Amino acid sequence: MYQMIITEKVKRDLETPCLVLDLDVLEGNLHKMQAAATHAGRNLRPHVKTHKCSALARRQIEAGAIGVCVAKVSEAEALVKAGIDNILITGPVATPGKVERLVNLVAAAPSLMVVIDHPGNIALLDGALRARGMSMDVLLDVDVGLHRTGVRPSDALALAGQILSRPNLRLRGIQAYAGQVQHIHAYDGRKHASHECLRDAVQVFCDLRATLPTCTIFSASGTGTFDIDLAVPEVSELQVGSYVCMDTEYLEIETADAGSRGAAFEPALRLLTTVVSANHEDFVTVDAGLKSLYKDGGKPRVIAPADSALAYDWFGDEYGRVTCPDPSALPRLGTVLELVTSHCDPTVNLFDRYFLARGERVTGTWPIDLRGCSQ
Ligand SMILES: Cc1ncc(COP(=O)(O)O)c(C=O)c1O
Repeated sequence: MYQMIITEKVKRDLETPCLVLDLDVLEGNLHKMQAAATHAGRNLRPHVKTHKCSALARRQIEAGAIGVCVAKVSEAEALVKAGIDNILITGPVATPGKVERLVNLVAAAPSLMVVIDHPGNIALLDGALRARGMSMDVLLDVDVGLHRTGVRPSDALALAGQILSRPNLRLRGIQAYAGQVQHIHAYDGRKHASHECLRDAVQVFCDLRATLPTCTIFSASGTGTFDIDLAVPEVSELQVGSYVCMDTEYLEIETADAGSRGAAFEPALRLLTTVVSANHEDFVTVDAGLKSLYKDGGKPRVIAPADSALAYDWFGDEYGRVTCPDPSALPRLGTVLELVTSHCDPTVNLFDRYFLARGERVTGTWPIDLRGCSQ
């Protein structure tokens, strides 16, 4: 299941370890998520932190997304350079130097938005904008239980009041990202948890909208809960990220029909790795280790050779160890294995480019041009 149809010869011609995007699967994922948002009358603003690639961001916009999300200012800079606008920076900016970069970027891309979660952000950003005679759109980041960023719901209206007192900041709505519920396995448990934690944010949003008709954006959700959150009428846009590439963390989570997320959103991202040493009866060594497979979210899954029951584990910086319940079925030296990564985002950040597979062929590459943009 899931393995690409590029031929063994094409796989062997690629230098491993490398990342391959299966374009047919990728386009299927893009269109399914876009259709889900459009059908519900909502916007899609996918999170580019997943794939770090401006060419892919452009595909998402061509498929109907209203813009994209990024986590950091430097990611936004790279996207603006690539000609992409309508960018939301989903993390607060807290230092004068970074605020200066942000304001420079607003001059080049006036549609840029950023979240705010603290009076310190407000003062810094407002001061820098005022000094340049500029203004920008902002969202209030509301903490819905992840506790990573965001203002407590009980303090949100007071902070909104502070934003409104600054003429250089235009408050356009809220962000409420519930990262802590995205991977809850059971559908009912995930649904309950997501609705529970969005409830306070909905109240904040409704209170704001009652007095400020320009507060129209409620940006939320992820690949785990997008279908659940579409039932919340106030959610105006989905910030989903992983759906486009997919990983083993997300493949297995249960869906409403008791199936799995991986049935609709298949893994478009594959990591190819080659058996480089085979001198033991009970394992072989492959050329992908910590430097090419980020160690997070469980183990990667070997999907090709198909039905091989091969299991991957890290074996140092440059290598992995592959075992099999039936050691006589271990792959031979030179065999190229196809893996689904356990957590796609940080793994992508380890590579310079994607190889693009269409059917049996590799048709080109896309640079991972936001790679390393963590500032
Ligand atoms: C603020 C924010 N929004 C959206 C997402 C996208 O989530 P997912 O990859 O689960 O779709 C993330 C991912 O970590 C995030 O940090």
